[in-house]
Amino acid sequence: MTYDTILVEQRDAVTLITLNRPQALNALSSHVLKDLSAAFAAYDADPSQRCAVLTGSGDKAFAAGADIKEMVDKDAADFFLQDFFSGWQTGVVATRKPWIAAVNGFALGGGCELAMMADYIIAADSARFGQPEIKLGVAPGMGGSQRLTRAVGKAKAMDMCLTGRMMGAEEAERAGLVSRIVPAAELLDEALKDAALIAAMPPMAAMVNKEMVNIAFETGLAQGLLTERRLFQILTATEDKKEGMTAFVEKRPGVFKGR
Ligand code: HXC
Repeated sequence: MTYDTILVEQRDAVTLITLNRPQALNALSSHVLKDLSAAFAAYDADPSQRCAVLTGSGDKAFAAGADIKEMVDKDAADFFLQDFFSGWQTGVVATRKPWIAAVNGFALGGGCELAMMADYIIAADSARFGQPEIKLGVAPGMGGSQRLTRAVGKAKAMDMCLTGRMMGAEEAERAGLVSRIVPAAELLDEALKDAALIAAMPPMAAMVNKEMVNIAFETGLAQGLLTERRLFQILTATEDKKEGMTAFVEKRPGVFKGR
């Protein structure tokens, strides 16, 4: 399948998705959302694909936000009636298999929010994160006020949302927004290396691990612990659990089927 605003390629079991509007700093238009939703759905549905990486084309930006030119003439009724931004939840966040955001350059507004939808973020040393919507007279609309606060705490989230300032890669790592920083020239290789590592894991276990961590993000401790235990118990019924543990005992690498 071909797309207008993104590039998608499969590298063995890893799907690489690249936002491809470099002339607009990969701004996230409705068309981008439509393309990304289709690409993530195809990734989720393809049993040969076990991890994905999302990055931005050009070295300047991961994504500089929702497309301001698309929003400038819309009024409140348009946003409400189109339930603007709701598609990010159903089209991107709902992806059940793991994916990593490889953030190069600007990740602002919706770009920062999109990166935070990933299971984790690897940042280039050039990465800059921010929620500058306040400068446009609005506020985050794709989860930024919620996910950023959960990721970095109230003080820094307030600071970012109220001042609209950008945060560099080192500050983002210190604050817990990104898992690690790599030199910009090595970003894609590093992210693809992680993805290949994850792709070699038992796929159902990868999906369950993802679901468990997300539950920690979204619910209280008692509910989270119960859900963790139940999901763990379900995983023990898989063929890959038998293979993984048998392979350990027999001192050989496991070969996983995804069942
Ligand atoms: C549409 C964008 C864009 C955006 C950049 N461009 N960001 N187009 N939507 N979010 C376009 C510019 O118009 C320009 O195209 C081209 O990309 C290059 O951008 P420049 O501004 O010329 O580059 P530079 O001077 O290097 O500045 C980079 C920048 C700046 C600091 C990242 O572009 C910027 O501040 N962008 C907006 C960041 C932002 O406010 N994001 C949040 C959006 S709101 P042309 O063809 O014009 O030269 C959001 C959620 C909203 O994400 C929720 C509300 C409901």
